[in-house]
Amino acid sequence: MARKRAPKKKPVRKASAPALLARVNSQIVLEVYANGKVGTYVDGYAVELGHISPGTVTRAKGLNEGLPVASFSPARKQADKEIEALARRLARAGLLEYRLAAPRGGELATIEPQVPDYWPQPAKLGNADTIVLSRFAYLRRRGNELVLESPRSPALFRIVDPKIAAAILTLSTPQKISALRQGKNFVGLALLGLLVECEILFRVDAKSEGLRAHEGDQHLVVWDFHDLLFHTHSTEGRQANPMGGRYPYVGTIAPPPAVREPWHGEPIDLQALSGNEPASGFAELLAARHSVRDFDDARPITLTELARLLDQAARVRSKWTSPLDFGEGDIGPDLDYTSRSYPSAGSSYELELYLTVNACEGLARGFYHYDADRHALVPIPARPQEMEAQLSAASFGMDALAPPQILITIAARFNRIAWKYSAIAYSLILKDVGVLLQTLYLTATDLGLGGCAIGTSNIDLFAKMTGQPFHAEGPVGQFALGRPLPEESDELPVGQR
Ligand SMILES: Cc1cc2nc3c(=O)[nH]c(=O)nc-3n(C[C@H](O)[C@H](O)[C@H](O)COP(=O)(O)O)c2cc1C
Repeated sequence: MARKRAPKKKPVRKASAPALLARVNSQIVLEVYANGKVGTYVDGYAVELGHISPGTVTRAKGLNEGLPVASFSPARKQADKEIEALARRLARAGLLEYRLAAPRGGELATIEPQVPDYWPQPAKLGNADTIVLSRFAYLRRRGNELVLESPRSPALFRIVDPKIAAAILTLSTPQKISALRQGKNFVGLALLGLLVECEILFRVDAKSEGLRAHEGDQHLVVWDFHDLLFHTHSTEGRQANPMGGRYPYVGTIAPPPAVREPWHGEPIDLQALSGNEPASGFAELLAARHSVRDFDDARPITLTELARLLDQAARVRSKWTSPLDFGEGDIGPDLDYTSRSYPSAGSSYELELYLTVNACEGLARGFYHYDADRHALVPIPARPQEMEAQLSAASFGMDALAPPQILITIAARFNRIAWKYSAIAYSLILKDVGVLLQTLYLTATDLGLGGCAIGTSNIDLFAKMTGQPFHAEGPVGQFALGRPLPEESDELPVGQR
């Protein structure tokens, strides 16, 4: 008897998941030569991107149009590893972006990494999860595009499909994934997972309202939106925008004058009134202060000189405690205060000094925290390449011939000041930094040492060196310190730096 065949299963049509494609950004073309050499041109400058094996050349060229990330990561074969390594090199150079295709074709969004080690790994979301928009997320126009960003996010999302804007609006209150799936503006789990991974969205308990206290940790609670945005966008490490002295308005706006044009009123001349008394020691110190960027590496600063500088400029002089008094008998918790030689908003003294010691007689090369209370240096284990990165960024920032003998990083304990001050916390921190910088300048000058403020610092690198989250304690200023060269007058005029 002929056996009856089992009926063939009808093929089920699955809606294909949105594909994430890695591709070089629109500013460049990736050149991959037959011998495996890879490079490109950025602003007319050649950038070398290493080598791949000749068998991978054709696939690597695909990064110009876009290669599905899932086709090479996680890597299964040697060729996948090579493509992943090349993609990561491109990402570190800020040249890679990711295109998220919609399930039925077309583009949903493009992801632009903001930190060198961003790698898209969508969070896994299930029907039972509830998600909500971060209070740090924002949509804005950039040129002719709409971008979704957050100071917490390692990447920004260029929105292409308008459905996403509607989905963002829905997510201003917590939403269950199962409910979102039913809605007409459902943008797919891939995008939502990527936004959760980037902390633009976050998971909450089903009953939570997703408000300030539910997002992140105790350190994040104290941050106002504009303060965290200002911090991450005025420092290096967590954003990919060009920064520093780039003269972006040459040709658009005439150079503004060094001295303000006078007002029209009748001037009261002060010249005759100010110059007769002999200059005080302090006036002489003020006059002698100037920035020193190149140091005498044959005669490094000594530990004794460093101890004096820290003692005079930054040490805790006294401590006291007093209860928080709201007035009319309303008394809050006891608050601790210190006094130091420089002023600080609200006597907060939220600034901490971290020293990257390159050359100091009597002190081992290394990374230290200055304990201003005990007047002591406490070593912190840091990788040599991280110290090198800090020191070389400092010499680059000063256009100096060599790294400074000591690089002082001024870091802020943000919650110390934001616990009290709403809206002005970050601006007070920057004012405190200015005050401390001048104190360091004057003390160094008084001790026969030299130094220079540095306008940029890398908050991601510092977080790696200290293990502190970038929003808990992080750099807000830097000061290079050392012994000046005997013939300092050879220095370039500052305007040319
Ligand atoms: C907040 C601040 C940031 C600075 N950043 C840099 C810097 O990144 N690189 C640099 O070479 N000098 C920097 N300087 C030093 C100034 O260039 C210098 O103070 C100015 O040119 C005046 O020169 P003087 O300090 O010798 O009087 C900075 C100074 C301040 C106050």
